[in-house]
Amino acid sequence: MKNITVLGAGIMGHGVAQLFAQAGYKVRIQARREISLKKAKDLITESLKIMVEKEMLTEDKMDQTMANIHYTTDLHEAIQDTDFILESIPEVLETKLDTYDIIESVVSENTIIASNTSTFPLKELTQRAKHPERFIITHYFNPPQLVPIVEIAKFEKTDENVVKVTYDLMKEIGKSSVVLKKEITGFIVNRVQVAMLREAFHLIEQGVCTAEDIDIAIKGSMGFKWAFCGPLESQDLAGLQTTQAMVHNIEQDLSNTREVPAFLKEMVERGEHGIRSNKGFYKYNDNGAQVIYTRDDNFLNLLKLIQDSEAKKEETAATTK
Ligand SMILES: NC(=O)c1ccc[n+]([C@@H]2O[C@H](COP(=O)([O-])OP(=O)(O)OC[C@H]3O[C@@H](n4cnc5c(N)ncnc54)[C@H](O)[C@@H]3O)[C@@H](O)[C@H]2O)c1
Repeated sequence: MKNITVLGAGIMGHGVAQLFAQAGYKVRIQARREISLKKAKDLITESLKIMVEKEMLTEDKMDQTMANIHYTTDLHEAIQDTDFILESIPEVLETKLDTYDIIESVVSENTIIASNTSTFPLKELTQRAKHPERFIITHYFNPPQLVPIVEIAKFEKTDENVVKVTYDLMKEIGKSSVVLKKEITGFIVNRVQVAMLREAFHLIEQGVCTAEDIDIAIKGSMGFKWAFCGPLESQDLAGLQTTQAMVHNIEQDLSNTREVPAFLKEMVERGEHGIRSNKGFYKYNDNGAQVIYTRDDNFLNLLKLIQDSEAKKEETAATTK
């Protein structure tokens, strides 16, 4: 694996390109418009600068990382002689399928095609594929250059060697991966997230609390714990009789709607799309630039804590062997 291609330079694409470039790979990132590429380059520069400020990256490493990324609007140039393609274009099936048609007409049979789709199963993504066995899903989380996990999803046609190579590649760029055993919409994290959001939306609709109240409550409780103590581990620590009682007593009262809530549809219709439009559940200036800066600064502090904790665990394991 030497050459990596990232298709799409949006919220996710630029962060994934940064990740590979930081790990020393030559990356070509493609978007249709120059302006998207310029924005991606600015965001990558900003993200690397914060790491330098926090002494998590040297200036030399920052320069090398920047030099490892080639920006292009030309799809053919981006995919020529590449080993691994990460497709991170919009979540529109037909757009993805059209792009795969072009990719497969250009690249060799050995090129792995990974999608960052949040929702489409491989069965749908490969419906027109000549070589479905080289398709895989690597699902990152925003901001991908900082969030430590990638979900890997395969299907019955995926070559096991493609899974292995992808798993090893994720490890090499500093990611831990979870490989799903079965194909399922939304994988692990988005299923759990959507179940939680359904209830959060229900609480807002019922007038129990505001969006801000929910964020405060979750950040200060589950959010505080989960980086070090997962939801199931937390139950062991709380005692499973309590878990059983909690599930039994609350479950019957939870929302079981299958509809997107009307208030969310209305927000989207009004153009309230979050930071992109400076309004969502909160108001923003400058497309949330300051909010993103603070978020990344905090996430880097957390990442450092997690890395230190992992290093200590490995050290202890090595000395007790
Ligand atoms: N936003 C998230 O938090 C998140 C998290 C995990 C996965 N994803 C998935 O990642 C993918 C990209 O999401 P995003 O949030 O980065 O989207 P985005 O809209 O921010 O970026 C999409 C990029 O693709 C470019 N693009 C549009 N059509 C294209 C085409 N035909 N060919 C090449 N480039 C094209 C756009 O110009 C833009 O640069 C989606 O599949 C999404 O479901 C998103």
